[in-house]
Amino acid sequence: MARFSYVNRRYVQHSHAAVHIEDRGFQFADGVYEVIPIVNQRMIDPQQHLDRLESSLLEMNITMPASRRVLELIVDELIDRNGVFEGLVYMQVTRGVAPRDHKFPKGVQPAIVITTKRVRFLTQNNLSDGVKVITIPDIRWNRCDIKTVSLLPNCMGKTQAAAAGAYEAWQVDREGLVTEGTSSNAWIVTDDDKLLTRPVGHEILRGVTRQSLLRIADEEGLTIEEQAFSVEEAKAAREAFVSSATSFVTPVVSIDDTTIGDGTPGPLSRRLQGWYLDYCTGLKNLA
Ligand code: PDD
Repeated sequence: MARFSYVNRRYVQHSHAAVHIEDRGFQFADGVYEVIPIVNQRMIDPQQHLDRLESSLLEMNITMPASRRVLELIVDELIDRNGVFEGLVYMQVTRGVAPRDHKFPKGVQPAIVITTKRVRFLTQNNLSDGVKVITIPDIRWNRCDIKTVSLLPNCMGKTQAAAAGAYEAWQVDREGLVTEGTSSNAWIVTDDDKLLTRPVGHEILRGVTRQSLLRIADEEGLTIEEQAFSVEEAKAAREAFVSSATSFVTPVVSIDDTTIGDGTPGPLSRRLQGWYLDYCTGLKNLA
């Protein structure tokens, strides 16, 4: 079955899809992106992802390449053409094509690429068995709230994690506090059953999964504190997990070789994972 992608107003065969060599995304990482999970052929939290896309574009002074409604229709068409029941949408908008010059050019049409990918993440072993994380210094810039395609430190961190046999690397600021994973938000459950995750700001991405989990946790009456935690606190935590469009809620069972809890996914992480999966499959609605 042919796989289609969407590139600058055209549906094209994925194997032939290409952008211009002077696209500023290619030369300067001058662009932003979104990754949106697809469950049962529909996007999870599309409005929240489009909100974040709009705010990332606004921060970089790039115009929306099409209306939100049109973007949704394009994604629906790709999901349909590519027969994606479970998977991901990747949506990237760059400033566009211009002769190489550091300053932002004026009057350039933004370039857009949308791809879909089939992934069977709901049956991943990670979700059931939990994962390892390592900690690394956070060497990124201080606008991590913008979902830019400039991801070299994140790629380096993830590669380091993989080399250590870990799933993710938790980045740590100069004060010794965990910011977030290289492609996920970080959470712990304290001894007194408090759910802790770093407050949003310039240091982390405002994860869409994070936001939905906060709403779920609140509705379920859990005690939540949006508060930064240290590596030591994380290692002493009762439970830990990561959240993202690709990890959903993935329990963490060790941090830098320190076992978390009894080394198996904790009960609160499990419950949150279950609630979140119910939310994705439409079994759970939020007020
Ligand atoms: N990354 N923090 C970072 C640095 C991320 O890159 C991501 C997501 C998140 C979680 O955000 P969300 O819940 O909206 O997926 C947090 C995506 C999955 C990626 O880059 O592939």
